[in-house]
Amino acid sequence: MKENAIYPGTFDPITNGHTDIIERAGKIFDKVIIAVAKETSKECIFPLEERVELAKAATTHLNNVCVEGFTGLSVDYIKSKNSSIMIRGLRAVSDFEFELQLSLANRDLCHDVETLYLIPKKEYIYLSSSLLKQIIKSGGDVNQWAHPKVIAALKNQLR
Ligand code: COA
Repeated sequence: MKENAIYPGTFDPITNGHTDIIERAGKIFDKVIIAVAKETSKECIFPLEERVELAKAATTHLNNVCVEGFTGLSVDYIKSKNSSIMIRGLRAVSDFEFELQLSLANRDLCHDVETLYLIPKKEYIYLSSSLLKQIIKSGGDVNQWAHPKVIAALKNQLR
């Protein structure tokens, strides 16, 4: 497929579950841009610049993937990149309600942007950035769920 696709998210921080979605998208599209949002409804533990750096570190093995931070609306960022495809991951039924709302709101904001959903590996179905943070805080081992640089940054921040 010829088009570029954009994967927006908070990525606070990126996990192997996100990377799994990015790898899948990279097989379908010529180029995938991981778009790290400055504005989200959440309190982030990492500033935007660090979330971008960690996403870069976790995806250096992927040639057709790049990472950028953005401010403002996702759909505006997507249009600024001459794309019309937003990638999102769907893990479980619990994601559906939020993703439906996001997708319909984005469609109203911009009719030209289409959201495509990809399903991660079974191993990552329950994984989230919050879960990683909780386990690290309690001294647990998260090697199977995140890149070593992400784990080091989390330990530095939370322990
Ligand atoms: N693997 C692991 N975790 C995953 C995952 C996957 N495949 N897919 C989602 N998650 C987790 C994330 O880790 C995160 O967990 P957390 O809540 O514990 O931090 C959670 O699911 C949702 O994260 P994310 O996919 O980053 O979505 P978000 O809700 O943080 O981000 C934006 C939503 C950034 C896309 C949205 O806020 C946005 O577009 N902001 C820009 C402003 C805008 O356009 N607003 C209008 C929107 S209508």
